[in-house]
Amino acid sequence: MNEIQLHDKQFSVSIDASKINAAVQSVADRINADYKGKNPLFLVVLNGAFMFASDLLKKVTIDCEVSFVKLSSYSGTKSTHIVRELIGLDEALTERYVIVVEDIIDTGITMENTIQKLIHLQAADVKIATLLFKPKSFRKNYTIDYIGLEIPNGFIVGYGLDYDGLGRNLPDIYKVID
Ligand code: IMP
Ligand code: MG
Repeated sequence: MNEIQLHDKQFSVSIDASKINAAVQSVADRINADYKGKNPLFLVVLNGAFMFASDLLKKVTIDCEVSFVKLSSYSGTKSTHIVRELIGLDEALTERYVIVVEDIIDTGITMENTIQKLIHLQAADVKIATLLFKPKSFRKNYTIDYIGLEIPNGFIVGYGLDYDGLGRNLPDIYKVID
């Protein structure tokens, strides 16, 4: 299945499952080395990061905890840049080592907002793990600690990422054909 249609758009395979798996493993290796004995709290940003988080956490071998938050800034293929509240954060973050798990960082606005909210909650340390990063789209200057793959600017779907609700279940990542 090299080309697919979702709603009105055609997509073709851009990053296959084995390449994704290698990127996830490289993030896990770095986290396993950096967080031994720190019992980090992984904060998974739903919906998009669910598949990355599931595969990543199976490769994390140190003691850790996992929680989920939800927020949203996308509508269709364009970022609205309106970041809604973090929903579902019921853990005490005081003194915790937090690793925020995202599917993709594009402009960086969503993550900046998330980090500000977490620092407000007095986490000891907040680091970012994202599977995908679009460096040419990034408009902020904070550090992204763990990046799986850097990708060009085009709109993608699959492996958790959606186009108006469709495509999250795909095991490979597809790029829009314009
Ligand atoms: P940012 O605020 O521009 O960094 O956008 C971050 C959020 O937009 C991500 O968490 C994704 O949910 C979504 N997003 C960014 N790029 C894409 C894409 O190419 N396909 C699907 N969703 C995307
Ligand atoms: Mg997301």
